[in-house]
Amino acid sequence: MAQRIAIIPGDGIGKEVMPEGVRVLEAAARRFGLDLELEAFDFASCDYYLEHGQMLPDDWFETLKDFDALFYGAVGWPETVPDHVSLWGSLLQFRRRFDQYINLRPCRLLPGIQSPLAGREPGDIDFYVVRENTEGEYSSVGGRMFEGTEREIVIQETVMTRHGTDRVLKFAYELARSRPRKKLTSATKSNGIAITMPWWDERVAAMGERYPEVAVDQFHIDILTANFVMHPDWFDVVVASNLFGDILSDLGPACTGTIGVAPSANINPEGTFPSLFEPVHGSAPDIAGKGIANPIGQIWSGAMLLEHLGHREAADAVVDAFEAVLTEGDRRVLTPDVGGTGTTEALGRAIASRL
Ligand code: NAD
Ligand code: IPM
Ligand code: MN
Repeated sequence: MAQRIAIIPGDGIGKEVMPEGVRVLEAAARRFGLDLELEAFDFASCDYYLEHGQMLPDDWFETLKDFDALFYGAVGWPETVPDHVSLWGSLLQFRRRFDQYINLRPCRLLPGIQSPLAGREPGDIDFYVVRENTEGEYSSVGGRMFEGTEREIVIQETVMTRHGTDRVLKFAYELARSRPRKKLTSATKSNGIAITMPWWDERVAAMGERYPEVAVDQFHIDILTANFVMHPDWFDVVVASNLFGDILSDLGPACTGTIGVAPSANINPEGTFPSLFEPVHGSAPDIAGKGIANPIGQIWSGAMLLEHLGHREAADAVVDAFEAVLTEGDRRVLTPDVGGTGTTEALGRAIASRL
């Protein structure tokens, strides 16, 4: 039976990198004889909002829930729709309602890409950020009082549950255990944020009892960001709350030269609901419409999607294909963020043709 994949390009460069993501998925499907059925949707975009007054149709949950995976571009067009409206109306709904509580974000210095950090070579930066993806600082608990007056107060609570924290820690420990270095770093801020963060540290220690073979360390988020830049080679698997994980998963890829290559998997590990695969980057209004966005973040996310659907060999072939194109280093094919003069489409085609 065919595996069904929902294609949701979104906004800005989401609409430019998605065709390349699809091109490469289809090339991989042809080469490995996979039966994938792709269906495209125009919702979860600001254009849809401007036409319908909401980001998603009322029946979006029913429409998407039986797909095997969701392939997403990027959402957000702050010129016309405020970001919190577009994001809470789309991506953040998917993550929550489909209980995609793991946000898995590999960070790897790829061949042929120059790191902005002096002297770093491929192999020096190779870690995962495991980000809690459904609770924490991204909560809707709070409110505004005395609006518009001198006494105005705004409150937004961080919500962490034992269930929600333990399940992301378990995933991170399992991942660390499966890797050669077996190393887990936990990001907190237990000196200043003195309730939730020390509690997170306690949960890390409690879960660690089940994984004696994993070496664990903990950093406060401020010095951890410094260490990402000064010692990226220290890290193997980094686990963090929703907000800290968000920040670290832009900083990590920046250390590998560009956030344009960074992929992510929003995973519901139980498979009760579809998981969602999308690049880490956003809709990049500053370069949208120019055809120069790097499509590798989208393409690599497609490889993660293939792996999630059980097609390990095809996933590896996609990664091999973009690494080969990067290694070749033809500047006419590479996008400007990695030192080239090429276009989104040229790079997508070059990668697909390797398959
Ligand atoms: P952004 O990731 O869109 O862009 C940040 C910078 O990185 C820009 O200079 C951009 O040109 C560059 N960049 C991003 N992707 C690139 C690529 N593939 N190739 C080359 N350069 C690339 O972040 P932002 O500017 O903070 O946000 C823009 C919009 O996107 C906002 O509406 C924001 O809310 C939204 N956003 C959405 C997602 C998502 O859908 N998952 C993620 C982040 C931001
Ligand atoms: C990401 C994005 C989103 C997040 C935004 C757009 C809500 O930055 O996927 O990293 O903060 O999770
Ligand atoms: Mn982010």
